[in-house]
Amino acid sequence: MKVLIATEKPFASIAIKGIKEVVEEAGYELSLLEKYTDKKELLAAVADADAMIVRSDKIDNAVFDAAKQLKIVVRAGAGYDNIDLAAATAHKVVVMNTPGQNSNAVAELVMGLLVYAVRNFYNGKSGSELKGKTLGLLAFGNVGRNVARIAKGFGMKVQAYDAFCPAEAIEAADVKSVPSTEELFKTSDIVSLHIPATPETVKSINTSLVGSMKKGAILINTARKEVIDEKQLITTLTEREDLKYISDIKPDADVEFAEKFPGRYFATPKKMGAQTAEANVNAGIAGANQIVGFLKDGITKFQVNK
Ligand code: 3PG
Repeated sequence: MKVLIATEKPFASIAIKGIKEVVEEAGYELSLLEKYTDKKELLAAVADADAMIVRSDKIDNAVFDAAKQLKIVVRAGAGYDNIDLAAATAHKVVVMNTPGQNSNAVAELVMGLLVYAVRNFYNGKSGSELKGKTLGLLAFGNVGRNVARIAKGFGMKVQAYDAFCPAEAIEAADVKSVPSTEELFKTSDIVSLHIPATPETVKSINTSLVGSMKKGAILINTARKEVIDEKQLITTLTEREDLKYISDIKPDADVEFAEKFPGRYFATPKKMGAQTAEANVNAGIAGANQIVGFLKDGITKFQVNK
């Protein structure tokens, strides 16, 4: 059996070492495709793979067509919007994610970016502090929960709204529950996005939400660029010169944002949230174990295309 790691954005080498150990211990062979720049490289590499570990790599119908022996794909991470689930199912391939394994890394980046933003991107001018500010979490999954934990250490007031998480569960984590997305945007000094990209959420962050934010508010997006209506956000930031937008991964209109909103906009050049050795080890090894568990014992926990 051959397990392929196909990552355009590579794991830390310590994670590869750990994955290799799990794969070889199971009697399988590991192959590695990193930093590929041409889809053809991916199509060639999957030809004889029985299992595959990926990150944000786009796994579409063409990949499944080329992967004649593929039985399982594990997205080492949380969001699986990069994988065509219908195509996977049609090709009888199981898709899994590794929820929670990289969420602390993303949460720490949220706080790092927030300090950077409230200190005016370290331009030397007097900024502000996070202590006492109200942080609104849009979605209270693994990342949102980790952000809440760390933000409380900063002395922030934390509130959240999650369409799929009952208010009681949010309150049980000692976080204030607000009744709607609208209310969250209106009442927070900072809104941090932790929603997945789904047909319902794509372009859902629009003028009516961002335009309702408090004076001097910050919108931070470590989720997916697709959830932002970029055109509307540009309009809103033009009208509201007090707002800041921070994003982990460049929006499509990065050049326009950078030109129009200097000092109020920052985006990481590559998605950095999960780029820590720890997150790579956690998610990569979990993925390898899930592959072994599936191939040897048929365990389908964490399957997302049921
Ligand atoms: C995730 O969904 O797990 C994160 O966005 C991390 O993505 P990455 O593996 O491409 O860094």
